[in-house]
Amino acid sequence: MQFFLDSAHVEEIKYALDAFQLDGVTTNPRHIQASGKPFLTVIKEIAKLVEGTDKTVSVEVNPHFLTYEEMLPEAEKLAAISPNFVIKLQCIEPAFKTMETLARKGIRVNCTLVFSAMQALQAMRSGAYYVSPFIGWKETNGEEVGGFISDILAIRDNYNFSSQIIVAAVRNARQIVDAAVLGADIVTAGLAVYQDGFQHPYTQDGIHKFCQFWDKTQYE
Ligand code: E4P
Repeated sequence: MQFFLDSAHVEEIKYALDAFQLDGVTTNPRHIQASGKPFLTVIKEIAKLVEGTDKTVSVEVNPHFLTYEEMLPEAEKLAAISPNFVIKLQCIEPAFKTMETLARKGIRVNCTLVFSAMQALQAMRSGAYYVSPFIGWKETNGEEVGGFISDILAIRDNYNFSSQIIVAAVRNARQIVDAAVLGADIVTAGLAVYQDGFQHPYTQDGIHKFCQFWDKTQYE
């Protein structure tokens, strides 16, 4: 399973690339705004961090763009900035034609804001490179997500669609493990979610205990 960082914080991304073999990055308008930098400036900075690798950076088209005519040129403009960019399009009907056109031109699309298996199915039919079901938002809304993810994976496998499934809006390590058990290709989460998941109180407790034994033992 691949681990993507959901962030536009350049230092965080740099850290995660080095510390735990990060596989890619996803950004969204919230992350870009939180970076405090202009959109084009920050996505170019992130592109530099993965230059020369096959790690992808998902960058989102202006969310005000809701038509094929608006989305297509902007997607092409962003894709031309870096070969690592995958263009995020919101999961609305005009995006399907846009992603089909982009796929024919060799431009990869991440279909974002996916909340139903039907949306995911159509995104896959339209040639989306990534499909991003947002599980955190659904859970907050009281919806179940296990069946949601397994339905999407089953549909993908039934029809041999090439799309990779990014389980997105992940809030804790349990959700990452659940996604891995279901066989999702990728998860994307914030740095704190990964770091919380990498530690366990018993590990800390064990280190403390073993240090005490160690300190009472001669080395040679
Ligand atoms: C994924 O690509 C999205 O950027 C992300 O997971 C959105 O969710 P959040 O901003 O609520 O975490």
